[in-house]
Amino acid sequence: MIHVHVLGSAAGGGFPQWNCNCDNCARLRSGELNARPRSQSSIAISANQRDWLLINASPDIRDQIAQFAPLQPSEGKRGTGIRAVLLCDSQIDHTTGLLILREGERLELYCSDMVYEDLTTGFPVLKMLDHYCGVNRHPIPIDGSSFKVDGLEDLRLTTLSLSSKAPPYSPHREDPHPGDNVGLLVEDEITGHKLFYAPGLGEIEPHVLDAMKKADCLLVDGTFWTDDEMMRRGVGKKRAIDMGHLAQSGPGGMLEVLNTLTQARKVLIHINNTNPILDEDSPERATLTAAGVEVSWDGMDIEI
Ligand code: MLT
Ligand code: MN
Ligand code: ZN
Repeated sequence: MIHVHVLGSAAGGGFPQWNCNCDNCARLRSGELNARPRSQSSIAISANQRDWLLINASPDIRDQIAQFAPLQPSEGKRGTGIRAVLLCDSQIDHTTGLLILREGERLELYCSDMVYEDLTTGFPVLKMLDHYCGVNRHPIPIDGSSFKVDGLEDLRLTTLSLSSKAPPYSPHREDPHPGDNVGLLVEDEITGHKLFYAPGLGEIEPHVLDAMKKADCLLVDGTFWTDDEMMRRGVGKKRAIDMGHLAQSGPGGMLEVLNTLTQARKVLIHINNTNPILDEDSPERATLTAAGVEVSWDGMDIEI
C-alpha cells in the first residue's frame, strides 16, 4: 500500500498569505470563512509507514514535521523518518525547506539536472548546504524510465517531464528545458497500486494523460479555479497558465480532464489562497463535490 501524508496543501504563500487581504485571506483571518488554514505544498509517501520520501521541501516544513510524528526522531539522540527528498521543481515553495533540514544527516536528494542547476546557481541552496549537512544528489531520469529511492525499496517511481517554466531566478528561465518541472507516477510493486502526483500541471500532454490513466489516485494541481483568478481578486496580473497552472473550471480545464478519468480517486493539492474552492460553502466547492473531486488539507492521509 502507498501511504500519502499531505504535509502542506496550499500553493506558494500558504493560506492565509502573510500580506494578502483578498476575500479569502481576509475572511479566514476574521473567522467568517468556513475554511481551513493551509501551509505550503509538500507530501510524504511511504510503503511501510516508517521510511518516508519527502516530495518537495516547503518553507513550512518545521511545523509540518511537528504535526506528523512519523517524520520525528524515534530512536537515538537525533533522527528522522525522512529517508530522502525528491523535488518536482526548483520553486521557492518547494525547495526553501531544504535549508530547515540543515541540522540533519547528509540529505539524499533526488532531482533533475535542470533543478540541480537552478539550485546551484540562481538559488544556490545546495551549495549553502555543503557548509551544513551536505547533499548526496541522485539524478532522476526524465525520459520515462523508472527508478527507485534508496530506503523505499517497495516503491517504483517514474517521472513525467511537464511543460512549464523554470523559476524567475533560473539561468534558463526564458529557455524551458525538459526536467524544469516533473510529475510523478509512484507504483507499489507489491500491490501494483499507483499514485500520480503533479502539484504544478499547466498542460495535459499525451504522455501525462497516459500516466494519469494508469493511476488509482490523482493528486494534482488545484492552484486556480479560473485562469484570470489573480486579476479577479485584484491581487495580481498573471494568468494561471503563465505560471504553469491549468485552471480547474472552463473548457479544457482540469475538471473536464478529471471527469474522463473514471478509474481514479481525484484530489486537488497546491491550492492558491485566492481559489474559491477553499470556502467549503462556495458553489465552486459544491461543483467539485458533485464531480467526486476532493480538496486536500494539511494532515490528510491517503492510502492507495
Ligand atoms: C507556483 O507554483 O506558481 C508558486 O507557488 C509560485 C510561488 O511560490 O511564488
Ligand atoms: Mn508552487
Ligand atoms: Zn489571499
